[in-house]
Amino acid sequence: MKRRLFTAAALAAATFAAATPALAQDNVFKIGLILPMTGQQATTGRQIEAAARLYMAQNGATVAGKKIELIVKDDTSLPDATRRLAQELVVNDKVNVLAGFGITPSALATAPIATQSKTPMVVMAAATSSITQASPYIVRTSFTLPQVSVALADWAPKNGIKKVVTLVSDYGPGIDAEKYFKERLTFNGGQVTEALRVPLRNPDFAPFLQKVRDAKPDALFVFVPSGAGAAVMKQFLERGLDKAGIKLIATGDVTDDDQLNDMGDGALGVVTSHHYSADHPSALNKKFVAAFSSANKGMRPNFMAVGGYDGMRVIYEALKTTKGQGGGDALLAAMKGQIFESPRGKIFIDAQTRDIVQDVYLRKVEKKNGQLYNVEFDVIKDVKDPGKAK
Ligand code: PHB
Repeated sequence: MKRRLFTAAALAAATFAAATPALAQDNVFKIGLILPMTGQQATTGRQIEAAARLYMAQNGATVAGKKIELIVKDDTSLPDATRRLAQELVVNDKVNVLAGFGITPSALATAPIATQSKTPMVVMAAATSSITQASPYIVRTSFTLPQVSVALADWAPKNGIKKVVTLVSDYGPGIDAEKYFKERLTFNGGQVTEALRVPLRNPDFAPFLQKVRDAKPDALFVFVPSGAGAAVMKQFLERGLDKAGIKLIATGDVTDDDQLNDMGDGALGVVTSHHYSADHPSALNKKFVAAFSSANKGMRPNFMAVGGYDGMRVIYEALKTTKGQGGGDALLAAMKGQIFESPRGKIFIDAQTRDIVQDVYLRKVEKKNGQLYNVEFDVIKDVKDPGKAK
């Protein structure tokens, strides 16, 4: 009898400890930041980590009486590694929040862990529409591919582009971009004559671009994830697609601010749609770009950095609102519905979908002070993810 009681008490204590991780270390608030720091997506990790550290430097490392501890883990963008690291962060480190997630498969692999452990999961990079539906504990501060692709399909036919070939990375965000671009272009009287998909890992764009050259569409629409854009641009120019009169149009992932300035003048004139440009002309963004650059040896922030910076804001404010006393559910509730000015413009975390609502810009690559930038020339305000209506 005595023994049974003891066991029950021990179990109750263990369950209590597991359910209230914050109590174990009263004054520390842990953020487990899982990012690709090496491999094909390493630029995403570098940008987001730098942005998270900048946010902490600017806003202090103590919030609502808690010391913020950032635990950065490299998942090399392999989803099995992301899942394992998330599990360790929740069980061993007892993190209060999971964050990061450089690519869609990493976010999807972690979603069940967030659900089971009731840990808020802030997706700062991955951008397939369906991600937020994979767990009720997911909040997103990046963007979705449907959200940014539709604007370009509205712009193109008004600018003499009727026949388009699409070329996307063959996984979630690419398939989203292809589908939503095509639907809207067709609705607007244009036509996607061919839809090409390239593998995510070690893509060779050359044979695809040769096909596009032979097909001679008015334009080629491209989505590839951050980090792969420069290779597409190089081969587009090397194969002479521009000289053949084929325009390159893309989501802003291709003219990524992390790489754009090294792409050379061949990139001039490329029109893209996206939610963030380092050239965004607001006072807040100018301050952000200057601070980011001076803290990181002149590095220019890209859209991944902004997703990380705003993700930290969402976490900090949730901690303030809950006065440092809340568990996962209270934090999540305080993340929903946040509305604030980001370096990209005004943003809103829709309480229903837990996804981001934001302005989407049309931009053109131009030279300013000898540097290449995505210069915004039009804006569509307060765009919700069109993927959620389906
Ligand atoms: C994704 O895998 O969801 C992803 C990665 C990089 C991007 C966009 C989407 O630039």
